[in-house]
Amino acid sequence: MTTSLPSAAAETAATAASLTEARTVVHTAGDPAAEWWRTAVIYQVYPRSFADASGDGIGDLPGITSRLPHLERLGVDAVWLSPFYRSPQHDAGYDVADYRDVDPLFGTLDDFDVMLADAHARGIRVIVDLVPNHTSSEHAWFRAALAAAPGSPERARYVFRDGRGPGGDEPPNNWTSVFGGTAWTRVTEPDGTPGQWYLHLFDTTQPDLDWTNPEVRDEFEQVLRFWLDRGVDGFRVDVAHGMVKEAGLPDWAGTSAMIDGAHEGTTGSEDGSTGAGNRGPMWDQEGVHDIYRSWHRVLAEYDGDRCLVAEAWVEPLSRLARYVRPDEMHQAFNFSFLTTLWDAPALRSVVTASLEANDAVGAPTTWVLSNHDVVRHASRLGLEVPGSKPNGIGAGDPQPDEELGLRRARAATLLMLGLPGSAYLYQGEELGLPEHTALDDDEREDPTWWRSGHTERGRDGCRVPLPWASDAPGLGFSPTGATWLTQPESFARYALDVQEGVEGSTLAMYRTALRLRRELGLGHGSLTWLERFGNPEVLAFENGDVLVVTNLGAETVALPDGYEVLHASVPLGAESGARVPTDVTVWARRR
Ligand code: NOJ
Repeated sequence: MTTSLPSAAAETAATAASLTEARTVVHTAGDPAAEWWRTAVIYQVYPRSFADASGDGIGDLPGITSRLPHLERLGVDAVWLSPFYRSPQHDAGYDVADYRDVDPLFGTLDDFDVMLADAHARGIRVIVDLVPNHTSSEHAWFRAALAAAPGSPERARYVFRDGRGPGGDEPPNNWTSVFGGTAWTRVTEPDGTPGQWYLHLFDTTQPDLDWTNPEVRDEFEQVLRFWLDRGVDGFRVDVAHGMVKEAGLPDWAGTSAMIDGAHEGTTGSEDGSTGAGNRGPMWDQEGVHDIYRSWHRVLAEYDGDRCLVAEAWVEPLSRLARYVRPDEMHQAFNFSFLTTLWDAPALRSVVTASLEANDAVGAPTTWVLSNHDVVRHASRLGLEVPGSKPNGIGAGDPQPDEELGLRRARAATLLMLGLPGSAYLYQGEELGLPEHTALDDDEREDPTWWRSGHTERGRDGCRVPLPWASDAPGLGFSPTGATWLTQPESFARYALDVQEGVEGSTLAMYRTALRLRRELGLGHGSLTWLERFGNPEVLAFENGDVLVVTNLGAETVALPDGYEVLHASVPLGAESGARVPTDVTVWARRR
């Protein structure tokens, strides 16, 4: 519920810039004993780029196990692992050939069990990725579909259709792939003639499954059980808004993109929309909700509050909240927050809209600034339009201001970690890593790069192997020094060992933030906007008795009298300790 003072009173308080309160209560405190995922800080591990134990230059499960002490020390509650299943790796593992096995690149099922047990022993829960919208074209089902005839049960697991036009030479409809180009590929029938077409919302090697087929539903319930029985704590559900398509597959005039329309960002809207929502007959169809209700029931059979997290590019936030109704999923990534520009009124709108939408269904709000699909926030926030979201950055593109980007990224992170709910971190952001913005185009592996006809550089720049040790080969990523993507020279400055024990480092800022967030109970806390600074470029809210202030304006602002600083996104000298400089977030409390 939102309560505001009458605007006249609010204005008076703002002009006075005093402690006379104009307050807007948006969210009240939750139960500290509620399910763990309501407040968890969850760290995304992108296995191929986290740590490599085998020495082949690609990260693996034993590498993850070897670095769990880092995550324990960082203070995260859980990790989410991007796919490590058997896969030809045409989309970095989001093209799964066998949902019940580990790809030899990443190790074995035994390696998974060891990693899981070690994480659990350290109090870290483990969420794995589930990719149900499509399989790999090398999955046994798809091979069988290619070998079978049109109209066969094997083809009915996927979306095969006859083509349009003379000879069926035209795709069945005009849909485009999220990665660029058409969303249909024509097959050659077993007798050698040009045949049907199959749908792939992503790469040609990622055929979409037909979720109206009960066999598909049964299979995925078994896959859920396979991993639940092994002890995982939940699933991040890939393309959760895409699994059901509008009946008849009607033509659509729009194009689908990873972040539809959000490349430029927006300055915000009342419902928090930023353009991050996919629209069209392949997205956000009513039928998906029935799938999640059945999965909810499967998870509920298991102990330990297992959870489902939706990767759903859906707006407005009230529409996204339908994925986390009490009998569906448990969380949904908040991409509207991620795609909001560095603009105080826009951030305020999206935070308010997020909390209100999720409160309406009793779900926690999540917060996220970076992941393996978007330019790292330390670089996005250093762009000319801070927070805008190009689909990758290359050597010839306008380059971000690295120092400014990192300063704002730290402020954005501390703002995010001050909010009630659950927060997602992406590996390397605790080191302040920038995007690799000058990666050699020849090294790019993201299918976006070639499918877009080399117009969209894509996501490789945020997937570069992590720097653990500044003077080791491959910056300590791999014992041989091999790295599947070349690390930029600047990564040496960000390496873990360089920041270890250094007061004021990004690493220290994250560790302190996570410790304080836990100690102060911010995850299950409240949110009340305070208008006391009378400055639209300042975000100020209370979470319980903690005052969080982010200054996006050009002028330094003073904290109210009587407050002490608990934490700040940059070291504040003793004399300026009660002030919040530009692009800085401070957590403070009454003395
Ligand atoms: C979303 C994943 O995050 C992305 O990396 C992948 O390419 C697509 N889904 C397709 O699976």
